[in-house]
Amino acid sequence: MKILITNIKELLQVREDGIEKVSGKDMAVLPSLQNAYLLIENNIIADYGTMENCPATSGIQTIDATGKTVLPSWCDSHTHIVYAGNREQEFVDRINGLSYEEIASRGGGILNSAKKLNETSEEDLYLQSRTRLEEVMQQGTGAVEIKSGYGLTVEGELKMLRVIKRLREEYPIAIKATFLGAHAFPAEYKENHSAYIDLIINEMLPKIAEEKLADYIDAFLETGYFSVEETERIMEAGKKYGLQAKIHVNQFTAIKGIEACVKYDALSVDHLEIVTDEDIEVLKDTKTMPVALPTCSFFISIPYTPARKMMEAGLPLALATDFNPGTTPSGNMNLVVATACIKMKMTPEEAINAATINGAYAMDLSKTHGSITKGKRANLIITKPLTSYYQLPYAFGSNLIDTVIVEGKVIE
Ligand code: NIG
Ligand code: FE
Repeated sequence: MKILITNIKELLQVREDGIEKVSGKDMAVLPSLQNAYLLIENNIIADYGTMENCPATSGIQTIDATGKTVLPSWCDSHTHIVYAGNREQEFVDRINGLSYEEIASRGGGILNSAKKLNETSEEDLYLQSRTRLEEVMQQGTGAVEIKSGYGLTVEGELKMLRVIKRLREEYPIAIKATFLGAHAFPAEYKENHSAYIDLIINEMLPKIAEEKLADYIDAFLETGYFSVEETERIMEAGKKYGLQAKIHVNQFTAIKGIEACVKYDALSVDHLEIVTDEDIEVLKDTKTMPVALPTCSFFISIPYTPARKMMEAGLPLALATDFNPGTTPSGNMNLVVATACIKMKMTPEEAINAATINGAYAMDLSKTHGSITKGKRANLIITKPLTSYYQLPYAFGSNLIDTVIVEGKVIE
């Protein structure tokens, strides 16, 4: 099966030699080809170049991309797409003056979602989650990480991870699964944290490993949630089962959590709305990818990750949605890219790098995803006609996507 895309006005994120990530000043560089073609064979980018070298089109399915931009699909490295019901009431409570922390301390927040999830059947949870996955694929996401963390019981966490596994089997998009049993302490463990961590380590993890349900391990390292020491216990246990850490950290407070994550070679540290100079120092020259979630900052009115300061210090940065019912009920990576430009003062080049190749890195997928490179997966966005790619973040409320290709197939 071959598809030839011709007359591409601009082919973005062209990386002849596959790279694994971009950092610091290099984030401002987004290599592209004008007046280009791209050839897909089966699910792979087989070839690309400028139109004067375009192969003969006879007998091949051809897509004419005159005036249009083509770029690699978004790589969304942080989501909680599998959840039950919603939290619309808390949204209105926040409008009326309550903060996210106040709602959580009244038993709302994550515990509210956990209650709903434990009351929902696996089948129903699958159906609710599948709708969201289909939506984000239509919005141009071509690889996604999905976390558990709304079960907080052995059965609930396994149910979530089995739903993620089923999504992976039923859909062509690359999906990575993260075990987030350490998302919050259930009410009955409020005064006995170590008993809940024992449950995670001794009951949940062995079953998850046995069924091969997770690729990574996560924890909500935050004041009032999991302390540095508690998160270290979780990361240590994950390591024994081969689960690398991807940690929620520095969302509301900086308590030296990033240092602990780096010590455990975390693949990524995510949120980072509050970042100290020390945190930046600790991240330099490490393999840990910082991940910003600007639509979370937007939705719950908290600070934005200091992207400029981090990139000026030479760090890489990835962008993800955090799609979840509480802090970010949106999986739209186009909006994430626009918000990063508008609110974090990232340039379009930096934001697109952060949402493609660096997002792929934060899921261990940069060998196959995140750039236009021969041999990589044919996961592509074909835009509507654009004056330039600046229009993607500039026209932030418009849907500028014409066609989405996942694993070489046009998504209807
Ligand atoms: O990434 N901060 C921790 N976890 C989620 C939100 C969880 C929720 O409110 O349901 C997040 O923002
Ligand atoms: Fe999250």
